[in-house]
Amino acid sequence: MSYYVTTPIYYVNAEPHLGHAYSTIAADILARHMRQRGEDVFFLTGTDEHGEPVAEAAQKLGIEPRELVDRNAPKFKDLMPKINASNDFFIRTTDPEHEAKVQEIVQTVYDNGYVYEGMYEGWYCPRCADFKTELEIGPGHTCLIHNIPLEREREENWFFRLSAFQEPLERLYAERQDFVQPQARYNEALSFIRGGLEDVSLSRPKLAWGVRLPWDPEQVVYVWFDALLNYVTALTYAREGEDLTERYWPAFHIIGKDILKFHAVYWPAFLMAAGYEVPKRMFIHGYLLMEGQKMSKSLGNVLDPFEVIERFGADTLRYYCFREVSFGQDGSVSPAGFEARYDSELANEYGNLASRTLAMIDRYCDGRVPEAEPDPELVGGADGLAGLEAKVCGLLDRAELTQALEEIWKRVRRLNRYVEETRPWDLAKDDAQSKRLDQVLYNLAEGLRVTTLLLLAYMPETGDRMLAALGVEARDIEPFGSHGGGQIAERLPPLFPKIETAAA
Ligand code: MSP
Repeated sequence: MSYYVTTPIYYVNAEPHLGHAYSTIAADILARHMRQRGEDVFFLTGTDEHGEPVAEAAQKLGIEPRELVDRNAPKFKDLMPKINASNDFFIRTTDPEHEAKVQEIVQTVYDNGYVYEGMYEGWYCPRCADFKTELEIGPGHTCLIHNIPLEREREENWFFRLSAFQEPLERLYAERQDFVQPQARYNEALSFIRGGLEDVSLSRPKLAWGVRLPWDPEQVVYVWFDALLNYVTALTYAREGEDLTERYWPAFHIIGKDILKFHAVYWPAFLMAAGYEVPKRMFIHGYLLMEGQKMSKSLGNVLDPFEVIERFGADTLRYYCFREVSFGQDGSVSPAGFEARYDSELANEYGNLASRTLAMIDRYCDGRVPEAEPDPELVGGADGLAGLEAKVCGLLDRAELTQALEEIWKRVRRLNRYVEETRPWDLAKDDAQSKRLDQVLYNLAEGLRVTTLLLLAYMPETGDRMLAALGVEARDIEPFGSHGGGQIAERLPPLFPKIETAAA
């Protein structure tokens, strides 16, 4: 089956920050997990380079928009390998292929009768590039998202007949209850639709920086339609000489809550108007908040993703973001919180389980994982290893990244308790217990194999090192007990050195 996952494309007027990394890592975890399950995955990310936000930023710097985007887009592109993102393509909306395809699709929407010329009068936020509806206007005509004064706009432009999709959108939402997740966001989008849809601007006359309308080159395509279309245009030119649309469309979109209206309302309507299938589903995540009130011993107050990556590796950041904040909700991240989870969970729980297991296999079994049977003590119960893979796959099918991680982590803890309960170092002193020792060490290695295979999407570098040390080559997610043992394992230096050591 094909699985097409996308991130929002990022405005190049700002420097890449943790919020951008967050959307990308979420999509990457799903892409990697689905590849492990043998799905035919395509993972897209990129940059949003037209429109007012970029034109204004360039103007402030006294440079041309083109210069600004060429300067900043590489910073986003370079972010991807730094956070271990495995995107299959990186789209820039200034790619000539994208621009040509946008013109073609916009023309189709025009030809299909969903575009007309009119006068727009209302409030506009240049930072959101959004024409605000009554409910979206704050006190004193301010933007509720950016807290800046809105601009009163009065301009002749081309309109997209969004109102024609009132009924089709209501039907879509009725038929596909999981179209937008989590549920609260589905309700929010549906109530926006039920509130009555008004037509929206499709073009802007005052702006020169954008894709020209084919039938009226004085105007450029409103940046949101230009940007949303990236999800379909990329498939037409990501692979030279190939059109991947049939193979991958429709997509699963990961986005932040601030851009819900565009994705959950405008986008499906626009696709219908252009004769495309609507997206498969979308998952809306919350914000990472950085309060950082407490002083942290080594990182200061702000969680700088680049500093974390440099010192502790991208995997630790990937783990922390999805462990600390429940995916779909808002939550705080901080250097102190990072350090606490790094020490107690990555170093002491997972790292320690890994080192202990590998060291004991080395010492007591000459480095070969014993061949034995699953221990019933470890298999059953609420945090038993049986059925873990099915549970995690089910959660990740619904993009429940934090819950899936919690299920895996419960088993990491269960395995650590198993070490304490069985005390292999005592068993090793008694020859009569050699079979039991083999069984315990086999179960630890097998438990580590399964938990690590499931963690691999979250922590690809760490997972690969761990699986290599365990002598496991396959990356398929097979259940606990399916792998018999017998392979050679090796000791590893600590996967997560203590923070004090790393800082020294
Ligand atoms: N260019 C538009 C998206 C067009 S998609 C067709 C845009 N760009 S953005 O760079 O401003 O934001 C991109 C994404 O980053 C959004 O999903 C937004 O929610 C996310 N984040 C930005 N800051 C964030 C946090 N602090 N926390 C989590 N994500 C947030 O909007």
